[in-house]
Amino acid sequence: MTEPLRLGIAGLGTVGTGVVRIVQRHAQILERRAGRPVEITAVSARTRDKDRGIRIASYAWEDDPVALARRDDVDVLVELMGGSDGPAKAAVEAAIAAGKDVVTANKAMLAVHGQALAEAAEANGAVLRFEAAVAGGIPVVKALTEGLAGNEVMRVMGVMNGTCNYILTRMESAGLTYEEVFAEAKALGYLEADPTLDVGGIDAGHKLALLTAIAFGTRVDFDAVAIEGIERVSIDDIRQAADMGFRIKLLGVAQMTGRGLECRMSPCLVPAGSSLGQLEAATNMVVLEGDAAGQIVLQGAGAGEGPTASAVMSDVLDLARGTRLSTFGQPAASMEAAPAASASAPAPYYLRLALVDKPGALARIATALGDAGISIDRMRQYGHAEAVAPVLIVTHRTSRAALDQAVAGMDATGVVSGSPVALRIEEV
Ligand SMILES: NC(=O)c1ccc[n+]([C@@H]2O[C@H](COP(=O)([O-])OP(=O)(O)OC[C@H]3O[C@@H](n4cnc5c(N)ncnc54)[C@H](OP(=O)(O)O)[C@@H]3O)[C@@H](O)[C@H]2O)c1
Repeated sequence: MTEPLRLGIAGLGTVGTGVVRIVQRHAQILERRAGRPVEITAVSARTRDKDRGIRIASYAWEDDPVALARRDDVDVLVELMGGSDGPAKAAVEAAIAAGKDVVTANKAMLAVHGQALAEAAEANGAVLRFEAAVAGGIPVVKALTEGLAGNEVMRVMGVMNGTCNYILTRMESAGLTYEEVFAEAKALGYLEADPTLDVGGIDAGHKLALLTAIAFGTRVDFDAVAIEGIERVSIDDIRQAADMGFRIKLLGVAQMTGRGLECRMSPCLVPAGSSLGQLEAATNMVVLEGDAAGQIVLQGAGAGEGPTASAVMSDVLDLARGTRLSTFGQPAASMEAAPAASASAPAPYYLRLALVDKPGALARIATALGDAGISIDRMRQYGHAEAVAPVLIVTHRTSRAALDQAVAGMDATGVVSGSPVALRIEEV
């Protein structure tokens, strides 16, 4: 086929302008690789006369992205507006209804409506792809759907929100509090307009919901992701975890265990020397574990114009080449609801508590742990000038239920000031 593949681009912000630049700059490379030209025929954004630093005068303009999706000279809708509902969803639905293929970077939309959209696309003979929606420039969707297609996936892990990793690593390197670094990140424009999407773990949770569907063949279910943000991570925990050989990451983990599908996005400790532990600043990392391939570690830029547009173009090139993959690596209609995990897999935990300076206090803590069936791997008590002493405990593997029982037991001893901090240690 030598007919050009004709793109309609809805959204000319950070990612949309990046896609326009790649299509213009790499026209020859794209044509050589696809065996046919890749062209933009029409675009849409909110404000027509905005200076975007790109040449778009030769493209048709549509004020309404739905009209763009329905144009006869558009083969593929490239949706780069964002938002889980509203114009993005309306335009994608219009394209699918017209039997057109869709490429999107919109994780918020897919985490909520991805299952229905993928089923609609299949029913209409259209393809819906989303490489750019997860971990920006890292080709993780392709790695899972194609590279690891012959594996049973055992576990997927990822640091997939660069802003959170920036905040946590900056707190550690500069010795600043969460509030101080949050203010810095805001001033630098690193945070979404609604910062809870980032620091509350929601954005990363959207991405984990999508990877989980591919990895385990289960229906996309954002509500099944147990989400905890980084707002309560203190500089004390960062320092003291480091002292015990760990770093704190906002880590997404999805794994199928005998208890069901576990899927959580939460602050966890990882060994400082591991690939995840060494991840700095706004970089993303995804770790995939297949039964045949073993562990695969992918690292790269999780956002930004170039990396995200690069991922969009990988989906566009598939369509130009005639590669028609299902959205989640298997027919969407055949995906089944995930069996929700009755409990999380046992893990070691990090506990930080402030112990009242009384004789026998430490023994009472050890008893509370013992009563819950938890054994101690390491314990450290710090020198103190006040009436309470910081104590750190790393437990051997235990269940969350046993840990909660132990924490309740500690609270009841009367020798702990405040409530102990408990963080899971992910064995990577
Ligand atoms: N930025 C990243 O690094 C990144 C990374 C991964 C995924 N993503 C995803 O990529 C998508 C786009 O992100 P972005 O950062 O490029 O967003 P952005 O810079 O805010 O751009 C959004 C674009 O959509 C247009 N738009 C908004 N509402 C519209 C409407 N009703 N009709 C027509 N156009 C409309 C805007 O028009 P105006 O320019 O006229 O206002 C703008 O051009 C989002 O789904 C985001 O989650 C972004």
